[in-house]
Amino acid sequence: NTVTFIQPSGAPATVSVEPGTSLMRAAVTNGVDGIVGECGGQAMCATCHVYVRPEFAAALPEPSDDEEEMLDCTTAERTELSRLGCQIKACAELDGIVVDVPSEQV
Ligand code: FES
Repeated sequence: NTVTFIQPSGAPATVSVEPGTSLMRAAVTNGVDGIVGECGGQAMCATCHVYVRPEFAAALPEPSDDEEEMLDCTTAERTELSRLGCQIKACAELDGIVVDVPSEQV
C-alpha cells in the first residue's frame, strides 16, 4: 500500500506502508516532515493531524470519541477533512490515500 503526504509547500512524499500501520507511524518512520506523533499513537496529542483528501474521506471509519475530542485541540485549523494520522490504518481500501500535512502541529 502507499500513502502520499502533501506538504504545505505542495511537495509530495509517497511512502509504502504495511496494512495495519497507521499513517502517523508511516510518516515518522519515513522521515516525512510535519507529522510529529508525540503521544505515540494514543489519540492524546493531535500532533499527527492531517487533512484527508475528500475522495478518500468516505472510505474512513468515523472518528472515535477520543479522536473527536483531540481534533478540537489541533494547532492548525480543524476542517471537515481533519483526522488524526495515528487513528487511520493503512488497508486495501485506502491504498493510495492522499493527505495534506498542516502548516503547524505544535
Ligand atoms: Fe498523538 Fe496521533 S500520535 S494523537
